[in-house]
Amino acid sequence: MKIAVIGPGAVGCLLAFSLAEAGEDVHLVDYRPERTAFLQEQGIRLQTPGGESRSISVPCGLPGEAEPADLAIMAVKAHQTAAAAQALPMVLVPGGLGLSLQNGLGNLEAMARVLGPERLLAGITYLGVTRQAAGRIFYAGQGEVLIGAPPGSLVTAPEIEAAAAIFRRAGFTCRSVPDIETLLWDKLMINAGINPLTALLRVLNGALPELPEAWFLAAAAAAEVQAVARAQGLAVSGDPGERLRRVCTATARNRSSMLQDVLAGRPTEIESLNAQVSARGAALGVATPVNDLLTRLVRALEASAAVRVG
Ligand code: PAF
Repeated sequence: MKIAVIGPGAVGCLLAFSLAEAGEDVHLVDYRPERTAFLQEQGIRLQTPGGESRSISVPCGLPGEAEPADLAIMAVKAHQTAAAAQALPMVLVPGGLGLSLQNGLGNLEAMARVLGPERLLAGITYLGVTRQAAGRIFYAGQGEVLIGAPPGSLVTAPEIEAAAAIFRRAGFTCRSVPDIETLLWDKLMINAGINPLTALLRVLNGALPELPEAWFLAAAAAAEVQAVARAQGLAVSGDPGERLRRVCTATARNRSSMLQDVLAGRPTEIESLNAQVSARGAALGVATPVNDLLTRLVRALEASAAVRVG
């Protein structure tokens, strides 16, 4: 099976690296010609907390340069999905599968506008991976990958299982799940708690539970996500604080993706995370004051970058 990974960010590079190392027929797709050429020449280097460093060469090209794939994994930032989705007809064979492995809400809808919902899969990951530079990643935490068919998808159970098996062969703990929509909200609960606070405070995931005021806000934001999910009939269960704590422990040495964005001066994913919680909460009559506040604070953080003192 030919596999395309769209987006050479932290998760995209980790997937391309691991799939290539496992002998899969994988290539990376990027929209920037100079970065494509650089990655094609340099390959991808992965470092582990133990100090081990491994490199592998992965074919990398612009959309349409490689032979179309049977499976395209969308791994760009949420705010880039609509633009990246335009490339899907060039990247995929007709009837190929599109899998979103991204944070937040709205990615599947953007892919469905181009491909239709029938051949889409959704996945969530709790991989603690940091992008150090183009094609250079630090892999701090092993986490699970869960894959399933979102509402409107006609992808069959054996096809989902075959996709999950690809991830397992590449060394990930991966299983197919029947209720991926609920799990997307479950992941949103984690991201809405961890990402804005680690980005605002510039701390590693593992530091968050040790900061009582920040921890209070993280747990409260996560509890609001759970309330909004439940209001729309999704059984997001478990104690939000406990769930957050477990992910912070598993990815303790990780810089959250939002912290990485802030440090690199890139736009964050706040609009597909906490802002979505606020908007969907408002539509359902569920109050989300902590998510409202965190959304405004992160927007202000982005907007103030150019005028910040020190
Ligand atoms: O966005 C992230 O950084 C990740 O989803 C997670 C699981 C919070 C780990 O840092």
